[in-house]
Parts: sequence; C-alpha cells; structure tokens
Amino acid sequence: MAGLLSLFPAGSALADDGTLVVGGCRADDLVAEFGTPVLVVDEQALRSRAREYADELTVRWANSRVVFASKAFPCTAVQRVMVEEGLGLDVAGGGEILTALKAGVDPGLVVLHGNAKSDEEIALAVEHGIGLVVVDNSDDVDRLEATVPDGQTQDVLVRIIPGVTADTHAHVLTGHEGSKFGLVPADAEPLIIRIERSSRLRMRGLHVHVGSQILEVEPFAESVAPVARLGDFPVYDLGGGLGARYTWADNPPAVGDYLDSLIGAAREHLPSEAEIIIEPGRSMVCESATTIYRVTTVKHGTITFVAVDGGMGDNLEVALFEQRFEAGIVGRFDGPDPERVTVVGRHCESGDVLVDGVDLSRPEVGDLLAVPATGAYCFTMSNNYNGNRRIPVVFARDGLARLVVRRETWDDLSARDVD
Ligand SMILES: Cc1ncc(COP(=O)(O)O)c(C=O)c1O
Repeated sequence: MAGLLSLFPAGSALADDGTLVVGGCRADDLVAEFGTPVLVVDEQALRSRAREYADELTVRWANSRVVFASKAFPCTAVQRVMVEEGLGLDVAGGGEILTALKAGVDPGLVVLHGNAKSDEEIALAVEHGIGLVVVDNSDDVDRLEATVPDGQTQDVLVRIIPGVTADTHAHVLTGHEGSKFGLVPADAEPLIIRIERSSRLRMRGLHVHVGSQILEVEPFAESVAPVARLGDFPVYDLGGGLGARYTWADNPPAVGDYLDSLIGAAREHLPSEAEIIIEPGRSMVCESATTIYRVTTVKHGTITFVAVDGGMGDNLEVALFEQRFEAGIVGRFDGPDPERVTVVGRHCESGDVLVDGVDLSRPEVGDLLAVPATGAYCFTMSNNYNGNRRIPVVFARDGLARLVVRRETWDDLSARDVD
C-alpha cells in the first residue's frame, strides 16, 4: 500500500493524521464541501502535463501542435485549461464542438473526428470554421460537399488504417485491419483524389490513430510508414493513444520517450516541412484526477465486498475494458490489518466492480475511499444508471477548491420528461 500515494498527482501528500491531500486540499474537507462521490482534478497537474506535451513535441518537431482529445475529459473547464495552455482541441461530435467553443478555443485549432458524423455535426463544423475535419469515409465527403457554401473551402485530413495492432484491450484498438475507423490505404487513395479535385474541400493531409492505453512505443512508430506511402502532404495528424499509469504495475513510456519514437519515425518517413499534430487524451488527463467515495456497506463472506456510493455510474472503464484501478481508505493508506477485498459499486450489475482485489485497512461503513487515476473517460461515460445523479467535478489548486461541474439534482433526472 506504500506505493498508493505515488498514483495520485505529483505533490499529493498525507497530512499528519494520514489524510490524503490533493492539490493542497484535504480529502475530508473536499467531501465536507462537495459530498461524495466527487471527482477531484489537481489543476496544476493538468497544466503541467499539457505543457510537458507541448514542450516535448516542439523540441523534436518545430512545425507541430498538440490538440487535446476532448473525449477523454469533455468538460468545459478541462478544455479551457488546455486552451489556456495553448493547445488545440480534438472533438468527436457536436456537443464537444460546442463545449470547445464555450471554452474559448480558436476554431481554427479544432480537429473534428467521427466515423458516423451527422449532417448536423458537419454543418456545425462548417458554420463555426472548424480548422480540420478528419474524413473517415466517402459519406463524409458527400456531406461536406453538400454543406460547404459556394466560394468557401473546408480543410480536411483523411483517416488511414495503418494495419498496426498494439498490446491493449481489443475494445480500444483502432489501427488494425477491420477497424471501423478510417480507410485502408487502397480505399483511401481514390477518396484522396476525389478530395483533391473538389472545389469545396482542401486536401491537407492524413490522420492515423492506433488505439488507446498503449504502454509500448513501437506501434506508434510503426503507424507512420503506411501513412507516408500515400504521398507527401502538408499535415500529418499522428493521433493519441499513449497509456497512463493506473496501478503500480503500469509503466507507461514517458512523453519524451513516446515522442522520440514517433518523431523518429516521422523524420524517417515524412516530409521535413510538414506540420505534425498529435492528439493525446487519456495520458493527458488520467493521472490528474481522483475519485473519492463513501463506503456504504462492508459484507464479509468468502469474499469481503466493500461497496461504495458510486461505481459504474461514474467509472465505466472497468466494465468496458477491464481497466484495473487501485484504492485506499482515506486516513489509512498504510493502516493496520490490511484485508484483501473487492470494491464494488451500488449499481444492479455484478459487473459493477471498481477494484477486483485490493488490500484495505479495516474498511468500515462511513470511511472515505480514494481511487486515483480517474481523469480519463470516467466523466465522459458517467451515466444515470439506477437513477444515478452524475457526480461533480472539483478543481483543487494550491489548497483552494472550486466546483467546475455540479452534481446532478433529482430534478435533473426528470428534466427531459415531456409527459
Ligand atoms: C481519433 C482519436 N484521436 C485521439 C484519441 C485519444 O486517444 P487516447 O485517449 O488514448 O490518447 C482517440 C481516442 O479514442 C481517437 O479516437
């Protein structure tokens, strides 16, 4: 359990009484003010990571930019931090376009994705001057040509399937043959020619994304050559996908090592004057956030179940792709009598498990339980299962906490009812 603190954002500490302190704020104080469960973001950690990404990319390839994959944490306040740190935003849908604009992004720095973009989303992108639309298929081209007004052009990239797999869960692989995203090079070629002939579209370059939670650097590098073979373009968007550290067994590559490999391949295969874009999501936000729950039940038996007041309503990562998390009782990370337990949620599914097997010290009803590394895709996929009210997001910085997303109310749950 001694390693648990190392999974919280840098600068996290234990107070004299053992209470977890994140962003300078005590977990018990945060809970007293905002209730449980609560998703706490260490704002400084978020900003540092954004700067690290931008700096490490620029030193390796000057004509480059980082766009944050909003889908990893599509909350306006998080997008605003990225904008303030000079990053662009990758969006994958109409709602993310609108929150990105609300966050103050320069629309020219937005990249729109989607394998099934609707007419409405294409119209929103064109109307708001979104910088790059990543074409996934020929229907995207039909829609864009029908939408872009006379005399105007829309810059596009074409998404390529590089035929690369990586050692990650099948549900988050995207670069393999058979992926629903993008086109294999042979199918991309005629579409590129069509776009180059279009008076409404401007063919700017190619896009590739191998998958998510990738803990090795080779697949990223391998994805570059298949794209390069399609010819020279002004822009190459090499996607996101770097893995994050969820448990002490994880050893994700440092951003610098990942970029050494990726940009090394770019130097080998891509035109030196091209612009390179990367789109980190998970690794940008995951480790900056912590979820704090209240223990509601401790049930002893063959297995000791420690049930908390959240679960798959605020963290679908476990059910979706078996992501392992760690956890500790606030105030007793290194406490006595550690017992191997299964931490479960409050939802009516046996799959509603937060941590399958973790040592907790004397867990009791009323304890606070902290789960680190919940910044990626947890807010994104939070839901109302079993009438769950989606949980608040709090930014903690230098001992000050501010609410950036409020908890849903009971009234919110019926707000869309029309009868
Ligand atoms: C096109 C694209 N870019 C970037 C990302 C971000 O990936 P990650 O969160 O693994 O960095 C994704 C995630 O699925 C994606 O689909």
